[in-house]
Amino acid sequence: MTRILHWTDMHMRRQLPGTAKDPSRLSRNVPALLERLEVKILSHSPDVLVLSGDLLDVPASVINGNSPDERPLSDWLNDVRSDLNFIKEWLSAVGVPFVVVPGNNDDEKSFAEVFSGYRFSNDIAGLRFYCFWDRLSAEQQPIRDKVNAALFQEAISGEEHECAQVHVQHYMIHPPVFAKNKHYQYTTAVDLKKSIHQSGRVLAVLSGHYHPGTLVEGRVLHSGAPAFCEKPFSYRVYDLDEQLPARVKTCILDN
Ligand SMILES: [Fe+2]
Repeated sequence: MTRILHWTDMHMRRQLPGTAKDPSRLSRNVPALLERLEVKILSHSPDVLVLSGDLLDVPASVINGNSPDERPLSDWLNDVRSDLNFIKEWLSAVGVPFVVVPGNNDDEKSFAEVFSGYRFSNDIAGLRFYCFWDRLSAEQQPIRDKVNAALFQEAISGEEHECAQVHVQHYMIHPPVFAKNKHYQYTTAVDLKKSIHQSGRVLAVLSGHYHPGTLVEGRVLHSGAPAFCEKPFSYRVYDLDEQLPARVKTCILDN
């Protein structure tokens, strides 16, 4: 049995100035929330921590290469790296192996610099974790590009990857969700879901992006955790075993 503790969409701003546009996203509270989460992590004794994107709330203009104010872009990017390093150091201090992927509010280049050893696949506690660094299309729908599609294909059909897997990505495959005038699932979600189920290798697909969260239990667990930056500050704990259905618990910091 492998125990995973999963949380997502922290939208943190610590060194980065300001806060998320949406006032329900408590970007500036996240460092203090992480202190409280650490206590919970120790009480659950997970084997692995999973963070599925939007670690930070980087302004869209910075991600697109422009400063949103009079400060030079390089200052903004220094803040981004500082905040990512803060999270990485926090994770290292907690002392549990972790898996991270970027989301659409992270700056992928900075993310790749800070979390350079955490891409593609990692074997932890008897499971192979795949990290998909996917993106949004111009229409704001998640897409899986050639590099990530090749990684996916290798995972589900490569002979050397015939093992129990967990797929981690910011965006969701299932269930389909249409909200705020956009699709939250991949353009190819139906095919991805079918391939995953046919492979018989994937125990869980863990994601974020849709802040209210989703959960579909079955032979393959599809879990989009509710956003950690919003009250009541949720995270999920999964007990995964190849022979048993996944056990899922949604927990909150505010209780
Ligand atoms: Fe988000």
